[in-house]
Amino acid sequence: MKILVKLGDLFGATKLIPVQSAHLSGVSYKHMGDGAIEFLNELADKGGRAQTQATLNPSSFDPDYLVKCYSKERFEKQERILALYKKMMIQPTLTCTPYYIQKPKADQHLAWAESSAVVYANSVLKAWTNREGSPSALAAALIGKTPNYGMHQAENRRPNAVVKVEARIETETDYGTLGVHLGKLLKDKVPKLMGLQGSDDELKQLGAAMASSGMTSLFQTTTHRAKEKLESFSVEAKDMEEAAASLNTSNLTPNLVFVGCPHCSEREVKAIANLLRGRKVRKDVEMWICTSRHVKERKQNYVDTIERAGAHVLCDTCVLVSWIKDLGFSTVMTNSAKTAFYAPTLNDAEARLAPLKQCIQTACNP
Ligand code: F3S
Repeated sequence: MKILVKLGDLFGATKLIPVQSAHLSGVSYKHMGDGAIEFLNELADKGGRAQTQATLNPSSFDPDYLVKCYSKERFEKQERILALYKKMMIQPTLTCTPYYIQKPKADQHLAWAESSAVVYANSVLKAWTNREGSPSALAAALIGKTPNYGMHQAENRRPNAVVKVEARIETETDYGTLGVHLGKLLKDKVPKLMGLQGSDDELKQLGAAMASSGMTSLFQTTTHRAKEKLESFSVEAKDMEEAAASLNTSNLTPNLVFVGCPHCSEREVKAIANLLRGRKVRKDVEMWICTSRHVKERKQNYVDTIERAGAHVLCDTCVLVSWIKDLGFSTVMTNSAKTAFYAPTLNDAEARLAPLKQCIQTACNP
């Protein structure tokens, strides 16, 4: 309660409002370390229990593959974190796409901490959530409420910038590259983007990337000319080229090809399976597809096709929250601009950004 009240005071909130769900980051042992375990232990021991539906972001392990790759000690620490959340009645969904498990309704108030999910919830699903930090999302889960400020108030959800997208935006990678450019340009503005007609999966890439390089929590798209007189920006081909160059730090052959940041939708799993059907991943490359257990279970036939091709379908985790450097991966090829943006710092790895088809071509062809 102290965390929520302090946050509310900082942002001028006059009351707490109930939330339909809380989604917590601060799960992977790689990012949390030992201090966080003590903090969680104290809360769980003192009787902290979720008062609203509460779910968890990915951890550092998947139950089948990575569990055999890292030390027993790391695994036990990760399990300890998950056990403490379980004691607090927080569901071990271990995915950054909780909206595929239970889709929030438009206008519902949430307290979500995963930045890609926050943008998706606000922009695509039209729910209302601030971009919570790990402690504030946990506090909201245990109290069932959040301070009423920011994205919970209609006046802050109105666009305050217009962006005319003149560059050609075609692949999911273009959407992600555009997102990285816009995140840097717009910081925490609420933009109205003119000239975009992306699918939900493409907008997922756009939002995840915007929230990586900037603080955007909400965007709108329109195919019409914006009527409002707002600060305006345009995105030209050269802006996209510059952003793409910053996301491709190497032209070396990748030793890891990764798809699934944010975690794959059912549609994406199907598309990957169709591209991999009858092919084989090269022996000198690993290919990881990350998704939630929920999606994996619902698309088991496509998962089987992917695994027959030699790729690994991993649940509960992703490249950025795992220790891929310890597995010898130095160059990651991905169709996710968010991963390409963070891999050099969070994984100490070179990044190559390319659309799904090209990722699969590289993974399979000598
Ligand atoms: Fe999800 Fe990991 Fe990307 S948590 S958004 S797959 S960095």
